[in-house]
Amino acid sequence: MTGWSHHHVIDLSSFSLEDYREVLSLAHRFKSLPSSGTRKLPALQGRLVTTLFFEASTRTRSSFELAARSLSADVVNFTASGSSLRKGESVLDTALTYVAMGADVLVVRHSSTNVAAQLASELEKSGETTAILNGGDGLHSHPSQGLLDLYTLANYFNPLNPEPEALLGKKIAIIGDILHSRVARSNLWALTACGADVLLCGPPSLLPKEFENFVDAPPPGQELDPIKKRGRIHIERKLSEVLPYADAVMTLRLQKERMKENLLSTLDRYHNDYGITHQSLKLCQKSVPVLHPGPVNRGVEMSGELLADRSICLVEEQVKNGIPIRMALLYLIAAVEAKKANI
Ligand code: NCD
Repeated sequence: MTGWSHHHVIDLSSFSLEDYREVLSLAHRFKSLPSSGTRKLPALQGRLVTTLFFEASTRTRSSFELAARSLSADVVNFTASGSSLRKGESVLDTALTYVAMGADVLVVRHSSTNVAAQLASELEKSGETTAILNGGDGLHSHPSQGLLDLYTLANYFNPLNPEPEALLGKKIAIIGDILHSRVARSNLWALTACGADVLLCGPPSLLPKEFENFVDAPPPGQELDPIKKRGRIHIERKLSEVLPYADAVMTLRLQKERMKENLLSTLDRYHNDYGITHQSLKLCQKSVPVLHPGPVNRGVEMSGELLADRSICLVEEQVKNGIPIRMALLYLIAAVEAKKANI
């Protein structure tokens, strides 16, 4: 292991190029394991990973569970419905309950921004060594999704060596509801760190102008940006202004549950202007891969036909890559702990 030093993983804004390299190369090795006959590694034997999801999830929670089990960890899953939250127990007390049960890692998802960061700081204040892995907090950050998207793209551009440099100079179009997307925010940090330019496209109500400066300075509480030179972010309002230049297209779900007011005229109009379909992809100058973090609203941000077209749609590949990426994160976090304890 080289320079990895993250005990908690909350946001990708603090990731160095070496961090990205380490996660991608480890994930790539883990991904090749099933075909070489190794189904489980003993790396996390005797460790307890708890998924603490206060918000709905299909892919992220199951993928963390499979990743932890592939490394031989024990796994406990908490889901908000049916828990003591209904009796008024707080998020912190819920987390502390699992810490008391011996959780080494808490994977946390919550609809409010900064819950993962607050839990991490509370645990540190009370001298607990449990690591927090952010499984998505409000609109803010979804680091494991940003990393699996990065890996999926690196693997597409350079299947033999999917390292961060595979993204250098590439133009990645991100389309749609950027404002409400923690996935878009994590992708902005990851893609620009690896030297890709990001072309954001959406209506002003879902893509405010300020996003152009999103990576210009580290977020509050972080002093320095570990990346010397990031790729740039451009904003356009029409698909015809981004697709001709794109090397890859990522489209996002309209996150209606996160909208404070109705920001859309009609879904038909949205699909017409921003829907990614075989027809709209004719604006591209070449065949480009299409990504979506899921869940997809078929016929809104992407057509059902395109979703089923495996020759260009990488959605299934993203889901598959989620497991080795999350294995890499769990493995690296455990290795930091072992280093500290001199095991
Ligand atoms: C995303 C999420 O929950 O932020 N989904 C995911 O984790 N794969 C995106 C979304 O909700 O649209």
